[in-house]
Amino acid sequence: MIALSACTTYTSWMGGVYFEHGGIRFRSVAPEDLSFIQDLRNDPSTWMQLGDPRPLKPGLQKKWLESLDSSSDRFYYIAENGTGLPVGLVRMDEYDPINRSIRVGADVAPAQRRKHYGLAIYAAIKEYGFAHLGLHRIWLLVLATNKPAIALYKAVGFSVEGTLRQAVFRSGKWVDYLSMSILEGGRR
Ligand SMILES: CC(C)(COP(=O)(O)OP(=O)(O)OC[C@H]1O[C@@H](n2cnc3c(N)ncnc32)[C@H](O)[C@@H]1OP(=O)(O)O)[C@@H](O)C(=O)NCCC(=O)NCCS
Repeated sequence: MIALSACTTYTSWMGGVYFEHGGIRFRSVAPEDLSFIQDLRNDPSTWMQLGDPRPLKPGLQKKWLESLDSSSDRFYYIAENGTGLPVGLVRMDEYDPINRSIRVGADVAPAQRRKHYGLAIYAAIKEYGFAHLGLHRIWLLVLATNKPAIALYKAVGFSVEGTLRQAVFRSGKWVDYLSMSILEGGRR
């Protein structure tokens, strides 16, 4: 293990932690994680806040995991706390190396919410994206009704940059989808 700063460490990729920052570890998704991901994704408190409400099916998850191996523009990580407990799932997709941007998302396991893991995960996403992927812009989409998530994103420096009007149908209503971003150098 190489310690490069007080709060960022790097270990070998194979079978272990890939990236660690501020007490949160990112590691690649393994077959053993599929039930954790399914439980998290299929919990109503999670899928109600996402653009696609359809459930994850176990039969399709294996194929999804295999597809990640050949994908160069999307990355998924299990976020663990300092004791190795999985606390969330991190998504990075729409990676655009020419314009140096990526879309991100993270869901925290229901039992682990309100413990500031969301803050720590987004701090790690920013460190990874700006200091390692060389990104200029990190962006995300969030339902305008998802006040807890919007508060979190603002707390870590994201700003609302636009509105996809009535882009999501949820609970019988059309809901705006907000696009939020943060630029390198802390510029909002
Ligand atoms: C949104 C989510 C990622 C937040 O993760 P979390 O680990 O619970 O958030 P944190 O504990 O780090 O909270 C950070 C800040 O966000 C805000 N926040 C988070 N959850 C909140 C809630 N339920 N109510 C009000 N504010 C909330 C607060 O400002 C909080 O700071 P505070 O605790 O000092 O008041 C998590 O609730 C989640 O996964 N929700 C379901 C799925 C989802 O919404 N995903 C995002 C889709 S865009």
